[in-house]
Formats: sequence, C-alpha cells, structure tokens
Amino acid sequence: MRPFKDFPHVLESQQFEPEHLTSLFEVAEAIRSAPHRFQGVLVGRKVALLFSQPSSRTRGSFQLAAELLGASVHVQEHMAAYSSVVKGESLEDTIRTFMQYGMQYFIVRWDTEGSVAKAAEVAGLDHPVINAGDGPGQHPTQALLDVYTVWKEFKSLDRPLVVGIIGDLENSRTVHSLVYLLSKFEGVGYFFISPPETRMKPGIIDHLKEHNRHFVEVTTPRLLDIADAFDVLYVTRPQKEYQANDPQAQQCFLEQFKQYIVDAEIAEAMKETAIIMHPFPRNFELAEDVDQNPRARYFQQIQNGLWLRAALLDRIEDTRMSELAIAR
Ligand code: NCD
Repeated sequence: MRPFKDFPHVLESQQFEPEHLTSLFEVAEAIRSAPHRFQGVLVGRKVALLFSQPSSRTRGSFQLAAELLGASVHVQEHMAAYSSVVKGESLEDTIRTFMQYGMQYFIVRWDTEGSVAKAAEVAGLDHPVINAGDGPGQHPTQALLDVYTVWKEFKSLDRPLVVGIIGDLENSRTVHSLVYLLSKFEGVGYFFISPPETRMKPGIIDHLKEHNRHFVEVTTPRLLDIADAFDVLYVTRPQKEYQANDPQAQQCFLEQFKQYIVDAEIAEAMKETAIIMHPFPRNFELAEDVDQNPRARYFQQIQNGLWLRAALLDRIEDTRMSELAIAR
C-alpha cells in the first residue's frame, strides 16, 4: 500500500488515493471472508476510543474491529459530560494522559472542526490518530465505508456514476468527506439537493470546480422529477446539534427539510440499478417504508463499516511495522 500522505494519522478523506482504496477494499473483503486469519494483527497494541459526541456505529464498529484484530481496547464515551473535559481539560491534554498509560492508537470524535488534527500533532508519528468525526468538519472513515459500499455495488469507481446527495449538506461531515473522496474519480457527477440555507460548503464547491468535476445544486424540492438520474442517492439528516439551542429556532431549522423526505414513492421512481444510502442515524428524512425497497443499502453499509475499519487498522499497522523494519 502506498503510504498515506501525512501518515500515520487519518484526518481527512483527501489523504486517500485510489490505490489506497483498492488495497483497503481487498483487505476488507479478505477479513470479511476469514476474520480468524487477522486476529493477531494488533495483539499487544492498546487502542483508545475517545468520544465527546454521541456515536453508535462508529464507536461500536471501531471497537469490534480493533478487538477482532486482537487489540486491547479502552473506550471513553460521553467525554463532554463525564470526563475531565467537564473541568476544562483540552483534547491535547487528554491525549497526553492516555499516552502515559501506553495507548498506541487513538480514535477520536470531538465537537469542533480541526480538533482531531491538533490532537494528532500532540500524539506524534508513533501514535496514529484517526478522525471519527470533528464537529461539522470531516468523518473520513465513514467516507471510506461509503465508497466501499459503492464499489461493492458497481464493481468499479472508474465509470460514470451520478450521485445525488440530499439533506443538510452544509453541516453533515459525512458528505464533506464523501465528496472529497469521490472527487478522486473523474467519472463521478453530483446533484446536491438541499434547502437554500444548508447548501454544500463553498470550499467543497471550489474544490470540485478546480478539479473540473460536474455538479448541479438543486435547492427546490423536486426530487421526484430527478429521481431517475441517480445511480446513488445518499441521504443525510438535519444536523440540529449545530444550531442555536432554542426550541423555536430548532423547529424552524427542521421544518425546511420536510419537503426533502425520501420515501417509497421516490425510491420506486429511481433506476432499478440505483442504490439508496444513509450514514445513520436517520430521523424523518428517510421514511421507513424505503427499507423494503430493493435499492436500500444502508444496513449493508453499516456492516461494511466493520470490515472496512478493521482493514484500515490492519493497513496502518502493516505500514508502521514495515517502516520500523526499514528504520532498523
Ligand atoms: C454520522 C456522524 O456522526 O457524522 N453518523 C455516523 O457516524 N454514522 C452521521 C450523522 O450524525 O448524521
């Protein structure tokens, strides 16, 4: 595997080139088919999961993946409520603390953009830090598992693909990471569908323009008219946690998404070969009546996350070991 740019940390999805993805997907498939063959990969390694924001899938799958590879895993959840963060401790000091206990890997979810990158500076090159979501910034491992899901479905990413992304595009870190990652493939075009107030971040729009990627922004709720254009429809929830903590403002914020709900009628209007994805958790934006539709892939996507995260840990450890051997 080609070493990651800025290795060993995983901070943003732009670090991954198509060759990394091919290698990761192959390893993910190998682990899925014979997990026992990989159970020694992280034996003797200590992995810390430090989470200050809520999580079910990212925390659960990283924990299971690290355990599957033989690591001893230390989990700190609810850190914004129950750790010394409440007393004003910084993430940097939290990392310094757990390094004293011999932790080697840090998988971190924190509430502000850029916070995990700062933690990586403190951890240094001997302690890989993986961004499991930095506020409304990025969530690179979600993008890896999302693209793995697309790759499994369409067998290749070097082909024309129309990806519709709908919801709170401004604040959803999963879609930021997904678009940066998919932009490595020139055949991918985008429909960005959102209320006018939550359009895709300008930095990502500029990135697509610089790389001559095709995209259309749709800010009128006419999903039914364009549903048959997509190969992939990626749905995300309104990120109300980044809005003012005032019930009326929150209600107003949620209200604007009510016209952008993906339901069975929209799903049925899509191409037969198209798929529907969602990083979860879902709220009202993806109706449960879509679950029976053969295009729904979100539960497979969740399972793919386990194998992909195990593959990522395997590849990072493998690269660390070969670099250590070269240094010797
Ligand atoms: C996402 C997240 O935390 O960004 N969840 C996840 O990790 N699968 C999506 C979300 O919270 O909307």
